[in-house]
Amino acid sequence: MATQRIADILKNGQPDESVTIQGWVRTKRELKNFAFMEVNDGSSMASLQVVLNPQLPNYNDLLKKINTGASVEVTGVLVASQGKGQRIEVQANHLKVYGESDPETYPLQKKRHSFEFLRTIGHLRSRTNTLGAVFRVRNAASNAIHQFFQKKGFLWIHTPLITASDCEGAGELFTVTSLDLKQIPRLDSEEIDFEQDFFGRQAYLTVSGQLEAEVMAMSFKNVYTFGPTFRAENSNTSRHLAEFWMVEPEIAFCDLQGDMDLAEEFLKYIFQYVLENCAEDMEFFNQRIDNTVLATADNIINNDFERITYTEAIALLEKADRKFEFPVEWGADLQSEHERYLAEELFKKPVIVRDYPKGIKAFYMRLNDDDKTVAAMDVLAPKIGEIIGGSQREERLDILEKRIQETEMSPEDLWWYLDLRRYGTVPHAGFGLGFERLVQFMTGMGNIRDVIPFPRTPLSAEF
Ligand code: 4AD
Ligand code: MG
Repeated sequence: MATQRIADILKNGQPDESVTIQGWVRTKRELKNFAFMEVNDGSSMASLQVVLNPQLPNYNDLLKKINTGASVEVTGVLVASQGKGQRIEVQANHLKVYGESDPETYPLQKKRHSFEFLRTIGHLRSRTNTLGAVFRVRNAASNAIHQFFQKKGFLWIHTPLITASDCEGAGELFTVTSLDLKQIPRLDSEEIDFEQDFFGRQAYLTVSGQLEAEVMAMSFKNVYTFGPTFRAENSNTSRHLAEFWMVEPEIAFCDLQGDMDLAEEFLKYIFQYVLENCAEDMEFFNQRIDNTVLATADNIINNDFERITYTEAIALLEKADRKFEFPVEWGADLQSEHERYLAEELFKKPVIVRDYPKGIKAFYMRLNDDDKTVAAMDVLAPKIGEIIGGSQREERLDILEKRIQETEMSPEDLWWYLDLRRYGTVPHAGFGLGFERLVQFMTGMGNIRDVIPFPRTPLSAEF
């Protein structure tokens, strides 16, 4: 049977139209001569109000069954609503209850629940207003990302989730194995004999698709990935997940300047798209979660990002009239408190910091002429800190080989990556956007666990 989306009915439905909807009961109100029921199908924040009259067959029996959480199908006629809060409502002619929901045990009640509590019911929390809005924004942002790159002619490529290389060199890898953990084969040296493992070598879940994206950029010029990445980083913070989604464009014949320009244009595009396509949800976040969300979006879209070098950033932090927990020192990585100070307090907008010391960055970043810094850039966002990390890549074979040595990466494992510098090398650059951090930034949601349907964090992999 053809059914309508509630979002479409609320927007375009006219009195006297016949409609059929399917969804889940949010609330029921029984009055003397009739009853109201709010039904939500996830298509919008607002639910559709359904009026139930005693003329409905089995009226009293049905009323007992339509408690919060029950699944229903309603056929009826649209009428202009008398009550305030909605333009239109449905007079039901037919109500079918698919599945009841026991009001004694159903954990979602009409009151506000804490996000901590909702995480314990990850299988039901997407039925709440806030999580519903988050996942619609997540969907719209995903769509915006594809639109942005597809319009520019970037090829969407699929990089492997199982890999043998540690792209970031940070040692935060999950091993993928089919070895019998009760009888792990060992070498004489007591080390694990991964030659007997499934892939004949140690393999991991990828931390980034970048190295493979570079391969593809060397034939298609402009490519992007959008997929899950994994980090066994034991960070229990509101901005770290063990499994998160990353968007990684890789652009051939491009330098750091072009990379920064693309990152800024990209973020502006996504914000604009989400504002246009999720207006009701964004309004909700502004009212209920963080009252700076709309102003921030406006600021992103209409103002240039600040751009400074790492060295300038250190000077600004040294001048700051406040104490940081972590010392500020040229050569040390910026901590999230430093990043937030720059973006949130000092500039009050996104800041792109570039040219970081080579000692704190990955082997593949292009060495600058000063021999001390690399052509790296991070986009720092207010409240979030680093949202994008990128760089121009080292395209010169001899320097790349030296950097691999310095950073103690294995040149044998990277033979194919080095080959790209042997055959038709070009300057190229790219970046990685942490998709959940972006959704946090857009919605004002304080905890990254609440912007992905099923968060994976240390000691937690339920649902
Ligand atoms: O800065 P990162 O480590 O950069 C890379 O992986 C590069 N290979 C990207 C590239 O140039 N193609 O990670 C990129 C972004 C970060 O800026 C951050 O937003 C996000 O990924 N990120 C995380 N998000 C959630 N949980 C984590 N544990 C994250 N680690 C990084
Ligand atoms: Mg980074």
